[in-house]
Amino acid sequence: MSALRGAVIGCGFFAQNHLKAWGDIAGAELVAVCDLDPAKAAAAAALTGAEAFTDVDAMLAAARPDFVDIATTMETHEPLVAKAAAAGADIICQKPFAPDIAGVRRILQTAEAAGIRLMVHENFRFQSPLIELRRAMPAIGEPFFAHIAWRTGYDVVAGQPYLAKVERFILLDLGIHVLDVARFLLGDVADLYARTQRTMPGARGEAQATMTLRHRSGAVCAVTCTYTNRIDPDPFPQTLAEIEGRDGTLRLERDYRLELHRPGSLEVRDIRPGVPSWADPQWALAQGSVLNTQQHFVDCLKSGAEFQTSGRDNLKTFALVEAAYASAASGQPVVPEA
Ligand SMILES: NC(=O)c1ccc[n+]([C@@H]2O[C@H](COP(=O)([O-])OP(=O)(O)OC[C@H]3O[C@@H](n4cnc5c(N)ncnc54)[C@H](O)[C@@H]3O)[C@@H](O)[C@H]2O)c1
Repeated sequence: MSALRGAVIGCGFFAQNHLKAWGDIAGAELVAVCDLDPAKAAAAAALTGAEAFTDVDAMLAAARPDFVDIATTMETHEPLVAKAAAAGADIICQKPFAPDIAGVRRILQTAEAAGIRLMVHENFRFQSPLIELRRAMPAIGEPFFAHIAWRTGYDVVAGQPYLAKVERFILLDLGIHVLDVARFLLGDVADLYARTQRTMPGARGEAQATMTLRHRSGAVCAVTCTYTNRIDPDPFPQTLAEIEGRDGTLRLERDYRLELHRPGSLEVRDIRPGVPSWADPQWALAQGSVLNTQQHFVDCLKSGAEFQTSGRDNLKTFALVEAAYASAASGQPVVPEA
């Protein structure tokens, strides 16, 4: 089968990882890159060898890609999905799909009405240490408790200045990843309780969120996220986790130390991620997960298999974000809408 022809829309901060990863994806080639900013489009074209565009309509008409990779910020996703879907292109789109769940539902309807395939670029569950953690879970028996922690003081606003201005901050930007990891590890959620705190001076929205999830399996999971931890050295961008089951406990500790505790025994494995040829070793965790996410997208397009993180699946993760905001506002547990 010939390579699928792809186009990246939005060549900003995080798209640099997408652009570099596309060069390593089996079964796809990048034929077009598009950014409103001509300098960013030209730089992306120089990096990838694809043709540069500054207008999406012109790009879709000229390049006629099989798929588009939308790497712009969330406010632009809905109109860009509509244009790509009308052009018959399958879509992988960065998280969050939209600023709120109504927007997510409209995006799903647009894709489904056009008969194109839609996946969210939700890369955390494609991080190799989290894949290893899930693979190790049968050894602890039925899980009944977990703590998934994202606690950093890394200056995320420096790379993404728009984050300081948003009303919905860490839950929509980062909590969405960690809540998706909770679903990946423990399944769907029956209800959720959340507290949020505005802990970052100069940021409009909450920089800290603490949640308790009750999964449909009966397992309870604490999901904690902060951008204002004063820890040194900082674990950014690692997610740490502890899962307790009937027969043992798994701990994903700093620097990719995976511990399996069972009565009378402790097994330790180093599960640090591999470094793609184009990656910076410091960012191999994130960059490798981008590679895995994009390869999953192409593999599923080719095989016809369901995406792990299809638009419909991601609606359930997005519903947890909405439930967390609603719970923080009401002080009550909330049943997610999807
Ligand atoms: N998965 C992750 O780990 C991760 C990390 C960082 C950012 N992100 C996500 O990536 C997305 C992009 O964030 P960013 O920080 O790279 O943003 P950014 O502002 O740096 O880049 C967005 C780019 O899109 C371009 N753009 C906007 N509208 C366009 C249009 N109509 N046509 C063509 N180009 C257009 C802008 O000119 C800009 O260059 C966000 O949704 C963010 O949440 C994900």
